[in-house]
Amino acid sequence: MSLNKRSWAEPFKIKMVELLKMTTPEQRKKAIKEAGYNTFLLKSEDVYIDLLTDSGTSAMSDHQWSGLMMGDEAYAGSKNYYNLEKAVKKYYGFKYLIPTHQGRGAENLLSQVMIKKGDIIPGNMYFTTTRLHQELAGGVFEDVIIDEAHDPESLHPFKGNIDLNKLESLIQKHGADKIPYVCVAVTVNMAGGQPVSMENLRRLRELTNVHGIKVMLDMTRIAENAYFIQQHEDGYSRRGIASIVKEICSYTDGATFSGKKDALVNIGGFLAVNDQHIFEEASNLVVVYEGLHTYGGLAGRDMEAMAIGIEESVQDDHMKARIGQVQYLGDRLSEAGIPIVKPIGGHGIFIDAKRFLPHLPQDQFPAQALAAELYIDSGVRTMERGIVSAGRNSQTGDHYYPKLELVRLTIPRRVYTQDHMDVISESVERVYEKRKKIKGLEMVYEPRYLRFFQAMFRQLK
Ligand code: F0G
Repeated sequence: MSLNKRSWAEPFKIKMVELLKMTTPEQRKKAIKEAGYNTFLLKSEDVYIDLLTDSGTSAMSDHQWSGLMMGDEAYAGSKNYYNLEKAVKKYYGFKYLIPTHQGRGAENLLSQVMIKKGDIIPGNMYFTTTRLHQELAGGVFEDVIIDEAHDPESLHPFKGNIDLNKLESLIQKHGADKIPYVCVAVTVNMAGGQPVSMENLRRLRELTNVHGIKVMLDMTRIAENAYFIQQHEDGYSRRGIASIVKEICSYTDGATFSGKKDALVNIGGFLAVNDQHIFEEASNLVVVYEGLHTYGGLAGRDMEAMAIGIEESVQDDHMKARIGQVQYLGDRLSEAGIPIVKPIGGHGIFIDAKRFLPHLPQDQFPAQALAAELYIDSGVRTMERGIVSAGRNSQTGDHYYPKLELVRLTIPRRVYTQDHMDVISESVERVYEKRKKIKGLEMVYEPRYLRFFQAMFRQLK
């Protein structure tokens, strides 16, 4: 046996477990029908392996759990707020912090403070809640991601990059005054967890400086993005995740953050900015929507757990194991011939439902149907990231027809073992064998906002 290639394992050991209920295919068929073929409407106790999201589903460390006991639950000026502020300054370098209950709370504040009616907000592909808050504030989102991001088979290593020519044309067309900021997500969730390169961020900074336009990060999975930079971008292989994360932030003016991903907490987020005026406006608004500016909808203990989680998220060993596990599952599925988005992204595997179910037109919701089928096969819960998630154009009322019609197998951090990954892969392979029999869906209930969370469907005959 050659020892050139050594196995690796998780840099933690398990000291508490949550027992899971096993169900039969008949029970699952009934459950998914009752849930209107929407995996968001299943009861968690009916799920075996939960890959719905990596949001708020990670396992906290013993250090984070002990942080919960250190909660200073004062209404104002909690110790934990200052600990969080210290972590944000140390690891991200932003001057001002406003905690929020989760990422979308920060998106609401940023959008309301910075966007005027008729403004244009360029971004590297939309994210559901981010775009909605931009629209509710009167803005119009414009996608300026590189074309490769919309192609599930393109092997571009930084598919999250902004196409600076597209951005420049938008600036020429509308004028810099109409663009309050460029919103850059690291990594890009809807493209398959794809990263942005440091070079792209640097050039974006140069271009926006020329026009006096701000750059605001959606830094929800920034440490995962940093890992891809470390692995694939020239000049970064010897740099630690922490230093790469800080450099990313240095090219921006502020950020919204959902702590429920990278920062390994079950709840929490923040808005962080360098501009005092934006900070003052947002810290006035936060008292309307979230709570006082030193807790923003969080308990003191939640802020403590997030402060500790931020530090844990930028450890190289942690990130290697986290993304290594996603990679392991992706490689297994690829070897089995399952069509997935390539390169494999940071937080999950995205199955290309258009290629998996070529017999279903997009308005029969192939990704939604496939997610339901996977649940019936094995109790593995995944989610749709296609036409249902994309919603409708608020002006014309038509469905958006995204190029990507995906099922996301999102991997929570530090929760499942490699054996779980094998079970998941086998289930996908089984469903792939019988793919021709999978039927399309019809939407029977459609909520107005973020419909993918609550929409209900019926199976077509
Ligand atoms: N930005 C990105 C890139 C996200 O993935 C999310 C949440 C948010 C913002 C909003 O943060 O949930 O804390 O309000 N994504 C979750 C997901 C819901 O499943 O991908 P939040």
